[in-house]
Amino acid sequence: MARPTDRPGAGRWVPGDTPDVGRLARAARECRGCELWHDATQVVFSSGPPDAALVLVGEQPGDREDREGEPFVGPAGRVLEDALEAAGIDVGTVYLTNAVKHFRHVELPERGRRRLHKTPAVAHVRACLPWLEAELAAVRPRVVVALGSTAARAVLGRPARVGELRGRVLDAPEDGAAVVVTTHPSALLRLRDRSGWDEAFAALVADLATAARAARDT
Ligand code: URA
Ligand code: SF4
Repeated sequence: MARPTDRPGAGRWVPGDTPDVGRLARAARECRGCELWHDATQVVFSSGPPDAALVLVGEQPGDREDREGEPFVGPAGRVLEDALEAAGIDVGTVYLTNAVKHFRHVELPERGRRRLHKTPAVAHVRACLPWLEAELAAVRPRVVVALGSTAARAVLGRPARVGELRGRVLDAPEDGAAVVVTTHPSALLRLRDRSGWDEAFAALVADLATAARAARDT
């Protein structure tokens, strides 16, 4: 069902003065920068310390995140937590956020209105980008980890292939943080109990460890 897709972008809702994550999160509740707020339960902003050295950026909240208002509290978050732990990173020290702050999905009425994740479009990433930029300006991390291609596009500002970029410490754009691109943990969920899981999990852990090392060394 087509709805008029008015996308002024988040910019006008982002407070312009001294950035502070708490204020940003409160202001984001009012955001109408794109149409995704309409069908979502609430905005899912971020979690973690506002002065973290390591920021992890996902794609968008999932079904559980949308209901609970917290990023990475669903199945993908579980995988991410396990990978962080395996990489020797204390989950409580990282700042978690998403490229897009509202849950894009389709409802399947024939299946008890089950809500199915729908990948955000480039236009949604662009509309939501002022929030991520404001967060990075407030947190000023040493390293930003982009989880998957949607996050990589948001963080790098261009289309990005995870397979080509993953695991390297990419130079900071201007005076920003260094960037490490890796796979999205939900890509691993599809491999669970299948061949390929061990390798994919080990590769995610290795990339996270690379990012943590870079955050210590820079
Ligand atoms: N996947 C994401 O990219 N972000 C979340 O917050 C949860 C799942
Ligand atoms: Fe605003 Fe981002 Fe939500 Fe769109 S997805 S309404 S830009 S917070």
